Amino acid sequence: MAIERTLSIIKPDATARNLTGKINAKFEDAGLRIVAQKRIQLTPAQAGKFYEVHASRPFYGELCEFMASAPVVVQVLEGEGAIAKNREVMGATNPADAAPGTIRAEFAQSVGENSVHGSDAPETAAVEIAYFFSGLELVG
Ligand code: CDP
Ligand code: MG
Repeated sequence: MAIERTLSIIKPDATARNLTGKINAKFEDAGLRIVAQKRIQLTPAQAGKFYEVHASRPFYGELCEFMASAPVVVQVLEGEGAIAKNREVMGATNPADAAPGTIRAEFAQSVGENSVHGSDAPETAAVEIAYFFSGLELVG
């Protein structure tokens, strides 16, 4: 399987509860390498642009507000099949459906405040990585 990169975000509910290290350990234990990482505070407009694919969904306003409510940690994860592997480590969107041992099963508070974001395909991963990182910040 090819080496891929994917965009991950540790969301405000998780940074607020000091879970960055525990979540990063899940990625590293699964063989994903954190090749770029920074803690930033999004504005609602920046969160809105990131999630614009969901603009027509009923939860969009709440989602943008939540993502701007406290700092997030944005990161690039690298590894074999990193996009699917990260989604596996994250677990299902709704923590009630997330498999035991996944980040969302262990840490998520609700379907909205679900601790992590992960890209869902190579095309979205490329766009999402470029939204937060320049080429110079990706050191492998
Ligand atoms: O994050 P993931 O790719 O698993 O799910 P999504 O369908 O792309 O939705 C993006 C984000 O919107 C989720 O991670 C939730 O934070 C939020 N969401 C929500 O608040 N209520 C829903 N019914 C579905 C998603
Ligand atoms: Mg998604």
